[in-house]
Amino acid sequence: MGEIGVYEAMSTLRAVRRLRSDPIPGDVLRRVLEAASWAPTGGNVQPWRVIVVRAAEKKRALGALYAARWTAYSEQHMAQLEGAAEALRARTERMLAAGDHLAAHFGETPAVLVFCFNPKAMAITDAKLGRVSVVGGASIYPAVENALLACRAEGLGCVLTTLLCECEPEVRALLAIPEPWATAAAVPIGYPLRRGHGPISRRPVEKLAFADAWGEVWASGLAARSEPQASEVGREGRE
Ligand SMILES: Cc1cc2nc3c(=O)[nH]c(=O)nc-3n(C[C@H](O)[C@H](O)[C@H](O)COP(=O)(O)O)c2cc1C
Repeated sequence: MGEIGVYEAMSTLRAVRRLRSDPIPGDVLRRVLEAASWAPTGGNVQPWRVIVVRAAEKKRALGALYAARWTAYSEQHMAQLEGAAEALRARTERMLAAGDHLAAHFGETPAVLVFCFNPKAMAITDAKLGRVSVVGGASIYPAVENALLACRAEGLGCVLTTLLCECEPEVRALLAIPEPWATAAAVPIGYPLRRGHGPISRRPVEKLAFADAWGEVWASGLAARSEPQASEVGREGRE
């Protein structure tokens, strides 16, 4: 495996939704799953599990469920674009086209990682604040992100998806997920059909970070260094 630096991996980990159906070698898949296992969790309880779905009929069934959700999501997203700036419209249309491809071929991806969690085994410190609770997710999504980064390092395309969580009862039945385990994400992975991972578009750190108090400008005085590796991925390259 060619080594890739962690900053390069993070800054080029864009969503890759066009995947080849070629199988993923067992040792590669194991490294991806092991990377997930290294993630931190509250109290080191590791209240997550991952189902590696490779059985054709199960992938097809997940794909049918996914496609129905994607169609609804995509239509709603397009409707919201009425009157949007041309650049945003074009970017969103590219994303939705890639999403259409994934929805049409979800069942043909070589593996779908279905991440599950046990809400009873988590210390959820923001559960009683009367707002949406997010702390529980911090004991599962770092594992998902580790898996994504490992896919990046292995040259595997991948994308974090959550649309299947909308139909958790069907997914539970299909994959025999016992109560109280629940679903957090489904990550289709496979070798990219096109260029794969590459440039990402994110807000600059100066817009995201504050100094000492909310709203206080944070500035390092240094230039951004997060430009993706143009030589490797091509600035105009589509995933
Ligand atoms: C919580 C979460 C849920 C997401 N769910 C989906 C999904 O269901 N389907 C999908 O195609 N992409 C999904 N994505 C991928 C995002 O659309 C993607 O990361 C975002 O548009 C940025 O794109 P980029 O990483 O290519 O720059 C999800 C991402 C996150 C973090």
